[in-house]
Amino acid sequence: MLYKILLHFHSGWAYLTILMGVMFLIIVGFYALNRRARDKFVRKLGLFTIITFHVQLVTGAILYFISPKVESGDTFYVLEHPIMMFTAVLLMTVANSKLKKEKIVGIVTMLLALVAMICLLVMIPWGEWSK
Ligand code: HEM
Ligand code: HEM
Repeated sequence: MLYKILLHFHSGWAYLTILMGVMFLIIVGFYALNRRARDKFVRKLGLFTIITFHVQLVTGAILYFISPKVESGDTFYVLEHPIMMFTAVLLMTVANSKLKKEKIVGIVTMLLALVAMICLLVMIPWGEWSK
């Protein structure tokens, strides 16, 4: 029961995670390449992106202990998905904390978000999702 609810949540919230991550990357990229000053808008965007990512992380971490796919020893769900997604969340969190500290949005912030989104998009189980 808890498993079904969490799986549905993790599956649906993934859309929001991808949407926020892509928006963050594009907008931060625009700011960084134009050497724009960090303003209230990017700061808010960063905050909402981090909240979205952390919620996905928490539901994934609980799923890890109750998912039959993990129990069956499916290495994608035992190792690849969790490790790479954790890395993606970590990099996005670092990008956001850099963003909080800098006056002009930096290229490194953009690159961290870029690598985070590559890790994330590569580890989405595209074939199995939303079946
Ligand atoms: C933060 C970015 C993450 C995204 C975007 C994401 C996305 C997804 C998606 C789309 C699915 C397929 C759901 C379905 O079958 O409909 C899935 C399954 C799963 N995820 Fe994640 N995930 C993330 C992080 C994590 C983390 C950090 C963990 C573990 C620590 C995790 C554990 C799992 C498990 C165990 C399943 C399989 C559940 C099952 O089918 O029994 N996920 N994830
Ligand atoms: C496994 C659980 C979680 C871990 C390990 C974790 C870890 C972290 C870390 C390391 C930071 C960075 C602080 C910084 O920028 O200096 C952070 C920030 C943050 N987290 Fe989490 N978090 C978790 C769950 C959550 C959840 C469930 C939420 C919200 C529902 C959340 C919301 C936030 C917010 C709002 C920030 C601040 C972002 C900002 O100030 O820009 N986190 N978290």
